[in-house]
Amino acid sequence: MLALIGTRRCGPRLVRVAPNMLKASSSRPGRALLSTTTGSDSASETNELPSIQRVTVFGAGLMGAGIAQVAAQHGVKVVLTDVSDAAVANGRKIIEKSLTRVARKAHPDSEEDQRSLVERTFANLVTTTNSEEAVSDTDLVIEAIVENIKVKQQLFGKLDGIAPAKTIFATNTSSLSVTEIASSTSEERQASFAGLHYFNPVPQMKLVEVIRTAKTTDAAFDQLLELSKRMRKIPVSCLDKPGFIVNRLLVPYMLDALRLVERGQATPEDVDTAMKLGAGMPMGPFELSDYVGLDTLKNIADGWRASRVSTGEMSAETVAAVSILDEKVAAGRLGRKTGEGFFKY
Ligand SMILES: NC(=O)c1ccc[n+]([C@@H]2O[C@H](COP(=O)([O-])OP(=O)(O)OC[C@H]3O[C@@H](n4cnc5c(N)ncnc54)[C@H](O)[C@@H]3O)[C@@H](O)[C@H]2O)c1
Repeated sequence: MLALIGTRRCGPRLVRVAPNMLKASSSRPGRALLSTTTGSDSASETNELPSIQRVTVFGAGLMGAGIAQVAAQHGVKVVLTDVSDAAVANGRKIIEKSLTRVARKAHPDSEEDQRSLVERTFANLVTTTNSEEAVSDTDLVIEAIVENIKVKQQLFGKLDGIAPAKTIFATNTSSLSVTEIASSTSEERQASFAGLHYFNPVPQMKLVEVIRTAKTTDAAFDQLLELSKRMRKIPVSCLDKPGFIVNRLLVPYMLDALRLVERGQATPEDVDTAMKLGAGMPMGPFELSDYVGLDTLKNIADGWRASRVSTGEMSAETVAAVSILDEKVAAGRLGRKTGEGFFKY
């Protein structure tokens, strides 16, 4: 994967990007760094694309609500949609709570400014359970529904027939293949299909992984980089490989920490202390696993074991089952969210 980074691309011309977009390291895998040319002198050499103004987010859960909030906060018109009124209401509640916190932090001395930030954000946000209406004039669909390939494919397959041809499709999947999800759509749409992987909690976490498949065009990819920066995130670019960057490195590391304890080499407390004080990690792997959710960690490992070993993308050892993880999940001790995982909360 890394071998491809920095190689010259052929094909469409560079897309003009705003000057403030050029500071972050946002090279596209498979091509040279974005041009740092600014000003109008080379405008004729660029493929100007209208920037993304309207975004539709599918899934008003933890991630979808966070993505919708941050986009709306930064002036993007957002439609947030889910399957039921209750789910949409839940998304609004998540946003209200988070936004109140954000507003207090941004304007600690002015209740008026806090109110104004909340109102401005909500003025950019509408919610609906009508998926057809939600995509009728959108520039970008961001999907943040359940981590199930069939369900995601079904949604995108349906949306492909409804959304305008201009609409870019993106998935927030953590562990599935973007290419496989995209295969439920037409060839044309696959050219405008990518991964946009945000991190939890979205309003706080600065990173977004922008993932391209072999079919994603530079134009669509650049639009996603540009939007990420407008949302005040730091985008990194990567190819559609299991776990992208963060989870590809983090999940095997967390599983290895569990195996180390399973072999009786050290306690979870000592492993966490060692990695914090010896490796400068802000959290040890056990605290981190509890934070992520042990069911999530297990689902990712199980999914990779089932689909990525036979393809040669991962070794069997990397994703081998870990009994202490399986036992915790079977006992419903899923980490922070259930009040107990490896530690009690
Ligand atoms: N939770 C995390 O830490 C995290 C981090 C990065 C990425 N992700 C990914 O983001 C996605 C969502 O995760 P989450 O934690 O927000 O889940 P969640 O369970 O909190 O929310 C999922 C929402 O999707 C809705 N939904 C299900 N099917 C739908 C459909 N067909 N149309 C519209 N809405 C539908 C559900 O009603 C629910 O409200 C998953 O793909 C997950 O892997 C999660």
